[in-house]
Amino acid sequence: MNQSIDITNMPKHIGVIMDGNGRWAQRRSMIRTLGHRHAMKAVKTAISYCSQIGIKVLTMYAFSTENWKRPVDEVDTLMNLIVEFLLKETPEMKKNNVVLHFIGDLSRLPEKSKRAIEYSVAEMKDNSGLKVNIALNYGGRADIVSATKEICKCVQMGELSVEDINETLFSGYLYTAADPDPDLIIRSGGETRLSNFLTWQSAYSELYFTDVLWPDFGEKEFDDAILYFQGRDRRYGGIK
Ligand code: FPP
Repeated sequence: MNQSIDITNMPKHIGVIMDGNGRWAQRRSMIRTLGHRHAMKAVKTAISYCSQIGIKVLTMYAFSTENWKRPVDEVDTLMNLIVEFLLKETPEMKKNNVVLHFIGDLSRLPEKSKRAIEYSVAEMKDNSGLKVNIALNYGGRADIVSATKEICKCVQMGELSVEDINETLFSGYLYTAADPDPDLIIRSGGETRLSNFLTWQSAYSELYFTDVLWPDFGEKEFDDAILYFQGRDRRYGGIK
């Protein structure tokens, strides 16, 4: 870890938008899907490094509700890579005390993906270290709509009254109900938008954008993002 990092001021929850895989491959005259394959190494590094430096929650945007619009072979490759990753890396993640959790609507995923997810989550259920949320078929707006529907059902059943609804209660119905909001959101690949990632939860997140493409994103890049975070003055709408 970079010696300038203040270990008493670490982000508790980091969100990552892993962009730039296609361009990484194209720059090497490779097909785009090979970029996703190389991305998996960076996913592995992100999990082991965040675990090592004491981050509590890491949320990774693996597949958005909009990514279904990509060519079928790219969608298939991504789904297969995720299954391959889970089957191969579960023992190591388990050993590293990682807790695995998925956020998003998993009902639309291929059976093979659902089985791999079930296996990996069950393997790590007794762990207590870094919590890794994998956002799969996730959209920030869909997250808000699904929370709203759940709350409406509770009101209809008489379990909740409209007066009970406030920000804290609402947060408890989101996919990330158990987690603190992300302190830091990192996006690789040069774009400067959130692309429907943690829309509600990112209200006060520090945002870090870098041109580094995701397959090249390693420990040094995490350190740079954390140093950026530590240089920010977080006021949450107040004044110092
Ligand atoms: C964006 O790059 C990346 C994606 C749409 C997929 C990211 C997903 C992974 C790396 C898999 C994660 C898996 C786990 C288990 C966490 P892009 O293809 O849009 O790149 P481009 O902007 O250069 O075209």
